[in-house]
Amino acid sequence: MKLMYDYDLSAHNTFRMKVRCACYIEYENVEELAGLDFDSLPRPVRHIGEGSNLLFTKDFPGTILHSAIRHIKYVDMGLDEVPVIAGGGVRWDNLVAELCSHSLWGAENLSLIPGEVGAAAVQNIGAYGVEFKDIVSGVSCFDLQERRRCKFTVAECGYGYRESMFKEAAGRYVVTSVLLRVSRKARPRLEYKGLSGVDASSPQSVRDAVIAIRRGKLPDPEDTGSAGSFFKNPVISAIDLAWISDSVPGVTVPHFILPGGMVKVPAAWLIDQCGLKGEKAGGAAVYEKQPLVIVNASGDAAPDDVLELERRIVATVHERFGVTLSPEVEHL
Ligand code: EPU
Repeated sequence: MKLMYDYDLSAHNTFRMKVRCACYIEYENVEELAGLDFDSLPRPVRHIGEGSNLLFTKDFPGTILHSAIRHIKYVDMGLDEVPVIAGGGVRWDNLVAELCSHSLWGAENLSLIPGEVGAAAVQNIGAYGVEFKDIVSGVSCFDLQERRRCKFTVAECGYGYRESMFKEAAGRYVVTSVLLRVSRKARPRLEYKGLSGVDASSPQSVRDAVIAIRRGKLPDPEDTGSAGSFFKNPVISAIDLAWISDSVPGVTVPHFILPGGMVKVPAAWLIDQCGLKGEKAGGAAVYEKQPLVIVNASGDAAPDDVLELERRIVATVHERFGVTLSPEVEHL
């Protein structure tokens, strides 16, 4: 176990905000986590993954927990469906790469998403028509409130678009491992427009296509700090969609009709229509190729730069379209 006081978190958030926490603990297994003397730790206690969906708005006064539970175990019973158990600290994309290399279908559309397995389960990560909830069977946790281990079925996890019971419970549960079910049988999911016509002969070929799309649109985490999509795609009524259409004559508003009749509108499109691509606040900027992403353009952007840009985007989109964007990125 690693335990550090007054610890620099720059390497633990993909936005690369230069912030510190009072205490940082990285544990190797559930026993180490369960054995911590929580009452003696600086508060609040928060768990992070790779810090790829987080904005630290200031120094964190409490304890940051991080998982180094990194096992991947195949429970192969010779059936088409293969149960796989992965530790909460496994890098999500390492897991996807490994599943694809074993020709197992299910996770390939979720290639190159930053973050770790535990955070994927909390956030219900999704891309290219697939969400984490589509391939998970169960989630094992440590309950920080009751100080005991527990397991949840998918139904109990309460998954929705970037939502879960774990998010609702605001830090109560630490995901220690997940049980996925992947398949030997081909089951490509190519409904997302950018994927139609790609080579779907193997999970690896789909993974290669997804990686090519993402590399073309999203900043390379190696050289530009960001937290991926900064806002959620707003879900609005058909009437509100009609109002938006009315304000952009001659243009078809991109939208996706949800079961129940509400519509999801790409936040990227709304931001783009407001002419905010490349907009800057201090060292932070709206990414040119995908305006849903805010980047640490200068490399030394401060949390306040990002917050200022966020305020400006929300106000401008609201003024123009009457839609209030909400951040996808968690603010700490
Ligand atoms: N668009 C523009 N201008 C642009 C770019 C995009 O108008 O410059 C519009 C277009 O209409 C485009 C639409 O935005 O068709 C949607 O863009 P895209 O397909 O790239 O996806 P997104 O809705 O912006 C979501 C996820 C991404 C995920 C992609 C692909 C959210 C908040 N984001 O983005 O997830 O990779 O779909 O499935 O749901 C992340 O969460 O960090 C993330 C990257």
